[in-house]
Amino acid sequence: MTIRTWLTDRFGLTVPVVGAPMAGVGAGRLAAAVSRAGALGMIGVSGAVTPAWIEEQAGEAAAAGRPYGIGLIAWTLARDPAKLDAVLAARPALVSVSFGPYAEHLGKLRAAGIVVVTQAGTTEEAVAAERAGVDAVVARGGEGGGHGRNEVATLPLLQSVLDAVRVPVLAAGGIATARGLAAVLAAGAEGAWVGTAFMGCAETVLPPAAAERVLAAAETDTAYGRVFDVAQRLDWPPEYGGRALRNAFFERWKGHEEELATHEAAPAEIAAAREAGDYETACVYAGQAVGMVRERRTAADVVAGFADAEHLLNRFR
Ligand SMILES: Cc1cc2nc3c(=O)[nH]c(=O)nc-3n(C[C@H](O)[C@H](O)[C@H](O)COP(=O)(O)O)c2cc1C
Repeated sequence: MTIRTWLTDRFGLTVPVVGAPMAGVGAGRLAAAVSRAGALGMIGVSGAVTPAWIEEQAGEAAAAGRPYGIGLIAWTLARDPAKLDAVLAARPALVSVSFGPYAEHLGKLRAAGIVVVTQAGTTEEAVAAERAGVDAVVARGGEGGGHGRNEVATLPLLQSVLDAVRVPVLAAGGIATARGLAAVLAAGAEGAWVGTAFMGCAETVLPPAAAERVLAAAETDTAYGRVFDVAQRLDWPPEYGGRALRNAFFERWKGHEEELATHEAAPAEIAAAREAGDYETACVYAGQAVGMVRERRTAADVVAGFADAEHLLNRFR
């Protein structure tokens, strides 16, 4: 692929795609595979992992000999500052700090020579991020998988953010093929930030029963809300709900979150279901692009598929 953007130039990529951080799905192995294939792989760091886990996964990602990134969830850092120290020690090429108070961490990361980005779900959040000093903004629409805002879809958000900020913009939410990549590049984005499309990959740490549900799911099978966070007593700021595969637990509690918050059995119920591989109760985060994830593929195959964006962009030449 000969398309060059800020993203490809900054990290020496052959495809303008970031393998988005996905806690519980993408660790060192997926990051290494994505980076080896010419995109930028990332490690998703959940609130539950230890600094030692970060060190280990970063080592595995770095072994590819290519730049890689680490994705942090901002609100989890306050209670566990050692996580940020582990990230600084690993020195990835890129770090994202999203969802919560991220600005206080930018100075240390940038001083270490790390490119820092955050995910914004509204134009106002993107403008605030530029003002706070990020190197680039990820405009993340509500159709995306996992946590984030659900107020604006990717296309309107991307157009608005591109007009509102001067820093490089990456597009996220619902981009799964060369067509989606071509669309956001044509609009002016420097690349795509892609999560769900990598969920069918052999290199994930997704339990097999969860991966089966991903492959079987249609584009209409996701739902957005706070049910699973409330059930697990996770302190996600309420504006950042999650998009996951709809299941029986979600249907039962949607609209009854207050009651769920005091339903004592809920955390154990979810934990036991996860242990048992019962995903009618435990959740699988995924975005609307899940309908395009139909078979087990390698990360290299998924990255290679994006390269066709060039052909699509040349259609009107
Ligand atoms: C299973 C899953 C886990 C995720 N975990 C994280 C995470 O740990 N940190 C983060 O910043 N974003 C996380 N995200 C959001 C992604 O970084 C990204 O915004 C999203 O996947 C883009 O939309 P897409 O799924 O339609 O490609 C997650 C997304 C998914 C699907």
